[in-house]
Formats: sequence, C-alpha cells, structure tokens
Amino acid sequence: MILSIESSCDDSSIAITEISSAKLLFHRKISQELVHSAYGGVVPEIASRLHAQALPQILNEAKFFLEGLGYSSTHFFSPLKAIAVTTEPGLNITLIEGVMMAKTLALALNLPLIAINHLKGHIYSLFINQKSTIFPLSTLLVSGGHTLIIEAKNSTDMCIIAKSMDDSFGESFDKVARMLLLGYPGGPIVEKYAQMHNESTLFNSKNKIFSFSIPLKYSKELAFSFSGLKNSVRLAILQHSQKEGNKFTQEFVAQICAKFQYCACEHLLDKLKRYFIQKAEGDNPIKYFSIVGGASANLYLREQISKLCEIFKVKLLLAPLEFCSDNAGMIGRAAIEKYRRNDFSQISTVQTSPKSTELF
Ligand code: KG4
Ligand code: ZN
Repeated sequence: MILSIESSCDDSSIAITEISSAKLLFHRKISQELVHSAYGGVVPEIASRLHAQALPQILNEAKFFLEGLGYSSTHFFSPLKAIAVTTEPGLNITLIEGVMMAKTLALALNLPLIAINHLKGHIYSLFINQKSTIFPLSTLLVSGGHTLIIEAKNSTDMCIIAKSMDDSFGESFDKVARMLLLGYPGGPIVEKYAQMHNESTLFNSKNKIFSFSIPLKYSKELAFSFSGLKNSVRLAILQHSQKEGNKFTQEFVAQICAKFQYCACEHLLDKLKRYFIQKAEGDNPIKYFSIVGGASANLYLREQISKLCEIFKVKLLLAPLEFCSDNAGMIGRAAIEKYRRNDFSQISTVQTSPKSTELF
C-alpha cells in the first residue's frame, strides 16, 4: 500500500491505496472552506496552521483504519511500501506541512518517498480505483490555479498545449462570487445561482447587464483569458449598485452568474473546438479527452464538453465528482505509476515549489 498526502492549498487529505489493484482503501479530507469563506479567498498562513492540525488527526484515523484491517498495534504501518506527497505546484507554506509529514514518515518507517506534481495528480483522479490508465490522453485541467490543455502521450511524457494568460477558470468564479458577496469557493455557488436563471431574459440584449462577451472570440491562438470577462461582471455590478444600491436581488445574482458562466464556458468550448479541429486535421486525431480539476465538477461545463466530444467522436473521461477537487486519492493513484518505475525522491533533497517544475 501507498500512503499519500495532499496539502497544496486548503484541503488536508490523506489516502491509502493498494498498489496491485489501485483500490482506494482509505480516504479522508478535511476542507478549510468555511474558515476561508469569511475572507473571500484562501489565506495561506491560516491554511498552513489548519493543515498542521488536520494532517496528524487524519493520520491517526489512518492508523485506526490499518488496525481495523488486523495489523498489530506495534506495526500499524507495516503494509506500507512508500509515502507519496504533493510537492508542487501550490502554496509553498501549505505544501511544506504535507512534505514535512511525508519526510518524517518515510524516515521513521524506512520507506521510499514519492514526490507528486499536483497537476499530474488531477489527471490521475480519472484512474482512482482503476488498475490501468488510458494514454494517449488530451486533458482540460480547470482548477483554482490553472486552466490548461495538456497532451499526455504516456505517464511521463506530458506537455502543455494552451494556458491562461491571466486568471484561471476556477479563480474567475471565485472572484465573481466575491464581487457578489456570495462566499468562497465561488465555483459551486455561482453554478447554483446560474441554475436559477430566467432563460428568457438571459440573452436579452436590451438589458445592459447582459452585454458580456466571450473572451478571445476572434483570436486563433490556443490560449485562455478570464480577466476581461471578470471586469465586465465588475462593471455590471457597479452600474447596478449606482442605480439600486448594494442590495442584490436573487434574480439579479442568478442572471449575472448565468451569463458569466455561459461566457466562461463558451470560451473554453470555443478553444477546445479549435484544438479538436487542429488535431482532426493532423496525423493524431484525439481518441480520449478528459476534464479534471476542481472546476470540472461544473455540470454545465461537463454537459457542453460532452456534446462537443460527441460531435468529434472523442471518448470523454470524467472523474467522479468527489475526486474533482483536491484529494490525496489522486496523489496515491499517481504515485503507483512512479512506484512501479522505482521513481523515488531523496528525502534530504526533495523540495516544495509554488510552480510546476517536473511536469513540463
Ligand atoms: O482543483 P481545486 O480543488 O484546487 C486547485 O488545485 O486550485 O479547484 C478549486 C477551484 C476553485 O476555484 C473553485 O471555485 C472551482 O475549482 N470550482 C468550480 C466548481 N467547483 C469548484 N468552478 C466552477 N464550477 C464548479 N462547480
Ligand atoms: Zn487542485
């Protein structure tokens, strides 16, 4: 079994995965969303302190889990063959919490240490509880920190085809929620309000708040941008506040959210369509496509991409909703591949990095 740890942002999570079957045996996550909600976003210093409390608590639960499997109290951790941990990218101050725990466990139990790139981890969320993987695979990764199209030939050969020039997709949902005083994380809240929208008025051009446009619509470049759209939302809210004050009716919030979500998703679809066409015209048309990352839980986005994949006859892979956001299960699943290749890290030299260094 591999014990894996994730602490790259505001989720403290530990998992235990069986190496031969890739079965997720134990998985626990403590989210800090409620605490950060009061600040409208993640406060790194607070996140780090909360990891320092939560990770030992979950490790203790993992110990009881192993005891329940029949391992004696002096050898709780004897079935473990390696310790895996997210080392990059993420908030340095929170990554360190997980990495210190992983290094200590690896040293104390005399086990190899496996360093996992968080973005690769998201790709492996597709293969949790699955013995085999599917490559080559093209992926849209949409999270709080990234919006990427990634092409993976196999588990070691991956490259970025497109990225955001400014905010990420998930981050733009967080910022819109913050402007509408809806709390954090913004993605699920904005999606919920968008579902309440009144269809008939959504595309009514007479209404000023519905004049958002789809980013980079006329650019052929495979790149994303969300800051202009976010700014349009800010101006619409400002205009509304000047007329009506800072009280937002449910209808106003729902319609802003619906139009914003529509434009943000159309932007992704627009670029994906260009990418699919490029690939279809080249030597390597896409067979398998996936959406991963916290924002891949967005049902509207899933539905729209699923329609696009049908048109292009591409098979769509999706992770179960519970494994879209950060979790140690995906880190454990990614670690199995490295374990099979004996790809271990030196305990004394492994480092955290806020940016991705390994994957690309
Ligand atoms: O992957 P993740 O848990 O953390 C990072 O690695 O960043 O992604 C979190 C991001 C947040 O920005 C959150 O608002 C967004 O994913 N998110 C969503 C939805 N659920 C989470 N964005 C849009 N729609 C959702 N349903
Ligand atoms: Zn993530």
